[in-house]
Amino acid sequence: MTTSLPIFSATPGSHETCRWKCGDACFSQVPNRSGNETFEQVVARGLSRRSFLKGGIASAIVLSTAGSVLTGTERALASTGAAADVVPRPGLRFTPIEPTVVDDVVVPRGYDWDILRKWGDPVLPGAPEWDFHHQTAQAQAAQFGYNNDYVAFFSRGSAGNGNRHGLLWVNHEYTNPELMFPDYDPDQPTREQVDIEMAAHGGSVLQIKRWNGRYRGYRHIQRGRFNRRITAETPMEITGPAAGAERMRTSYDPTGTMVRGMLNNCAGGTTPWGTVLTCEENFDQYFGNLSLPEDDPLLAIHERYGLESFTIEELEAGLATSERKWEWYHPRFDMSKEPNEIFRFGWVVEINPYDPDFTPRKRTALGRFKHEGATTRLTDDGRVAVYMGDDERFDYIYKFVSDGQYVEGDLSHNLDLLDSGTLYVAKFDVGATGEGIGTWMPLVQGEGPLTAENGFASQADVLINTRGAADLLGATAMDRPEDIQPNPVTGAVYAMLTNNTDRRLVDDPETPRYQGVDEANPRADNRWGHVIEWVEAGDDAAATAFAWRIFLLCGDPDDPHTYFAGFPPELVSPIAAPDNVMFDRRGNVWIATDGQPRAIGFNDAFHAVPAFGEERGHVQQFLSVPKGAEACGPELSPDNQTLFCAVQHPGEGGVFGSPLQPPVSDWPDRDPGLPPRPSLVFIYKSRTATGYRIGT
Ligand code: FEO
Ligand code: CA
Ligand code: CA
Repeated sequence: MTTSLPIFSATPGSHETCRWKCGDACFSQVPNRSGNETFEQVVARGLSRRSFLKGGIASAIVLSTAGSVLTGTERALASTGAAADVVPRPGLRFTPIEPTVVDDVVVPRGYDWDILRKWGDPVLPGAPEWDFHHQTAQAQAAQFGYNNDYVAFFSRGSAGNGNRHGLLWVNHEYTNPELMFPDYDPDQPTREQVDIEMAAHGGSVLQIKRWNGRYRGYRHIQRGRFNRRITAETPMEITGPAAGAERMRTSYDPTGTMVRGMLNNCAGGTTPWGTVLTCEENFDQYFGNLSLPEDDPLLAIHERYGLESFTIEELEAGLATSERKWEWYHPRFDMSKEPNEIFRFGWVVEINPYDPDFTPRKRTALGRFKHEGATTRLTDDGRVAVYMGDDERFDYIYKFVSDGQYVEGDLSHNLDLLDSGTLYVAKFDVGATGEGIGTWMPLVQGEGPLTAENGFASQADVLINTRGAADLLGATAMDRPEDIQPNPVTGAVYAMLTNNTDRRLVDDPETPRYQGVDEANPRADNRWGHVIEWVEAGDDAAATAFAWRIFLLCGDPDDPHTYFAGFPPELVSPIAAPDNVMFDRRGNVWIATDGQPRAIGFNDAFHAVPAFGEERGHVQQFLSVPKGAEACGPELSPDNQTLFCAVQHPGEGGVFGSPLQPPVSDWPDRDPGLPPRPSLVFIYKSRTATGYRIGT
C-alpha cells in the first residue's frame, strides 16, 4: 500500500524544533530495544499479510461484532458507532476553515481570538514587565515561561457554575534560546542565559476571570493569590516505589526523595480530585558528559532512553556536552559528576493548583519514560486509571491502575492514590476473525522476565527502567504515542500516534530496531500519523483486555491510504501529526497537531471530529497557528464557550538577529526589534454572532 513511498524521510522536522524540543531524537538511532513481536508474528495468528495489504487496514480492523471474547466490549463499541439515545447528540456548528500557511492565528467566521499571556508577561503579583534586552532569571521566574504546551482549566468557586473564576495550568515545555536572546551563542551560552532558560521551563498557574457580558473571554488577575510559577529549580518530592532507591540518590539529596525542578513538560491531564498531572518528556537532552564503559549495565539503560556515551578522551576534550550546556553552570546536569540526577527526571508530576504552597510530587509508580500526557478515568470499583504514551518512535502505550479507591472530598486520601498500583504496557493484537484485540501486561518485579537476573531486582528498578521492562514483555512498538484520553461520553479511549518515518514496510533482520508495519501501525514511512480508539473489556478502565480499531489514518484526503472512520474523504479537512487531544461535552474529539507543515504543507491546527453518529470521522479544521508554531492545548472552559490554544514556538526554524536565517514568524508583536513569542490564546464567539458555544 505504501510501496511507492520512500521508507525513510530525509528531514523529519525543522532543525530548531528537533534541536531544542527533543534533542534531535529523530536524527539519532532509535534507542536500543529488543526486537519485539511485530507484524510477522501478529499476522501469523490473524490475517495474511497479503490480504491485509490489499484490503487495507480500514477493513482489516473494523471490529467484528461476532467472535469477540470481550464481553461488554461490543456494546460499548456499538455505542461509538451509532448515535445512542443515552448520549448527547454530537455535532459541530462552525464552518471549517481552509488549511493555511499564513503567519497568524486563523479561526472560523463568527469567532474571535485574543491573547491571555505571552512569554515574559507577568504572572506573579509584582512581577516586572518583559524587557527583551534586559531579561533576568529573577524576572523570568515571576513571568510567563517559554513554549506553553498543555493547558488545563480548573474552576474556582461555584459562582457562574465554575466558568467565571478559574485557574489555568500551563506547561512550559522547553526553550528556544536562539529566539529568546538578542545575542545567543550556542557554543558559549552565558550563566545568565542558562538561568533564564531554567526559569522559563516548568509551568504556570494563572488566576483568570471571565469578564461580564456575552463576550466569553478571560483576563489574567495578576494580584491573585493562586498565581504560581514552577521552574527547573522548584523543590519537588519524589514519591512511590522508586523514592529513596539507591539510583535516585545524589549528593544534593542523599535520601533520593527530593529533586529540584521538572524538565520538558509536554502534555498532561487532570485528576478527579482537582490536581494536574504534568509530564516530563525529552529529559535526556538536558544531561551532558556521559561516559561509561561498554560493560556497565547502566549504559544500556541510558541508551534505551536516548543518551549517547562518549570516550574519556572526548569528554576531556569538551565534546560530550549537552546541546544547552547547562552542566557548565549546574553540575547536577553533568553525568560525570552527578550520575544519578538523570534518574530523577522522566516522571509524571502531580501539582495541586488550588494550593500555591503545594510541593509538586513526582509519582514514580507511573513509570519513567518520555511521558506525553497522563489522563484519568475511574474504574468500575472506584479506583483511578491513568493512560499514558511514551513519545518515541517504536515506543509504547501504558496504563496505571491504582490500588486504592477515589473518595470524593478526601484530598489527603486521594493524594496517595498514584503512589501504589499496577503499571501496565499495551500489546495490540488481531483476533481469529480479524478484529483488533489487546492486552494490558503488568510491569511487576518478579513476574515473568522482570527478575534480578535480567536487571530488575526491585520494583524501583522496573519503574526507573520502564522501557527496558516493557521491552522484555513484548509490548507493541507504536508510531510515537502522544496524548491518550478516554472520551467522557462513550468511554472509548483515543490514542494520538503522531508519526514515524522510520517504520518500514517489513521487518529487516539486519536492523531489528526499525520495524515493519503491523495492524496497529499500518503504514511505512508514516509521516502523517494516525489515531487508534479502543474500549476496555466490559467498558471498565481496570480491564486487562481491550478491543481496538483505527479511527483515523491522517494525511491528505486525496491520498488513498488515508482513512477517516469511514467518512467520505472528499468532505474532511487535511490533517497530519495528531499530538494533543481533548473532548467537548458532546464527545467530539478535538485534535491539535504538531508537524502538519512538513507532512502536508499547512500550518499546524486544531481539528474537531465527531466520534460517533452520522458525522463520525468528519474532520473539520477549526483553527490554524502562525508559521513555525505548533498548536497545543486544546482546552475548553466547562461551559464550552471559550477555547484555549497554546501557540508554541512561533517562528521556530530561524534565529533572532540572523540576516541569513531570520525567524519565520513575527507573531504576535509584529516588531522587527522583537522575537516571535509563544503565547496562550483564547477563542470565543464574536459579539455579533448568535449562539456562542464553541463545540456544539
Ligand atoms: Fe512534546 Fe510528544 O510532544
Ligand atoms: Ca506534545
Ligand atoms: Ca508536540
